[in-house]
Amino acid sequence: MKRSIVVLTLAGAVASVVLFVAPILAAEKGDFAQGESVYKEICFACHGLKGDGKGPRSLGTMPRPQVFINTNYMSRLTDQYMFEVIKYGKLAVLKRVHPTTQQIMPMPPFEHTLTDEQIRALVTLERGFLSGAPPSAEAQQLFQANCAVCHGAEGRGNGVMASPVQPAPPHFVSRIQPAPADYTDPLFMARFDDAFLFWLIKKGRVGVTEEKAYVTMNAYGQILSVKEIWSVVRYIREHFIKKTR
Ligand code: HEC
Ligand code: HEC
Repeated sequence: MKRSIVVLTLAGAVASVVLFVAPILAAEKGDFAQGESVYKEICFACHGLKGDGKGPRSLGTMPRPQVFINTNYMSRLTDQYMFEVIKYGKLAVLKRVHPTTQQIMPMPPFEHTLTDEQIRALVTLERGFLSGAPPSAEAQQLFQANCAVCHGAEGRGNGVMASPVQPAPPHFVSRIQPAPADYTDPLFMARFDDAFLFWLIKKGRVGVTEEKAYVTMNAYGQILSVKEIWSVVRYIREHFIKKTR
């Protein structure tokens, strides 16, 4: 009896060590120089040579391309998650149409829980985190009841479901991938217009892409090899994301 508890505890400890070092090992699978050339050939078009999300094709997508120099957000993504997004495309990852070891949890739909008016009040509340506009009592209450569990009471993306075991942002890797939006993060929030935010809350992340035909990150598994994908993950990690851990 006691022994099996010890074994289980040990197994748990080993598992958490493996989880912790996995991103580092994954990055070593890639080659930085190869990643750089893939990036400069394909990815720059949307994500920008500087990783600022302002490449020549960036205005053709909504949400706008992810800003790789946004350490606050990017350091919360694991290498495995980035690999899968690049290989299968973000929608396929969110729908888990392939086997994954990640704890993937897309933004859920609220169309059966909230009215359109309530959703608009929540969009205003989200923008208020940056503009400083005080939230209405109703919006605040809706947010605490429906959103805080993932997005955090302060809207920083650190709710209990986001990370039951790890410390709060900016420098933690969320246990759910992708990380829930941090409304206090200007680089992240500038990527969305109000119409997108409205439909996102109503339809969820998968629904907004499929039903409302918003564009998200495509799959590159047909044109890039597994090695090339790991290489570009490594390039993004080492070139754009400031070392904060
Ligand atoms: C046609 C434009 C376009 C190109 C080209 C492109 N991306 Fe993206 N990418 C996007 C958009 C848009 C998003 C934001 C998706 C979202 O937030 O739903 C994104 C997001 C990402 C993310 C973050 C996913 C997340 O959940 O935040 C990674 C990693 C990524 N892209 C890697 C790459 C790599 C590597 C390449 C080159 C092989 C590439 N992208 C090429 C448009 C593009
Ligand atoms: C079960 C957890 C969960 C709950 C509850 C939740 N969200 Fe999210 N939300 C997420 C995750 C995860 C993301 C990251 C985006 C993704 O799925 O790609 C996100 C992203 C967002 C975004 C940014 C858009 C984007 O594509 O990243 C907004 C805005 C948002 N949520 C609003 C809300 C609002 C408002 C509520 C409450 C009505 C809410 N969320 C409830 C998990 C949640």
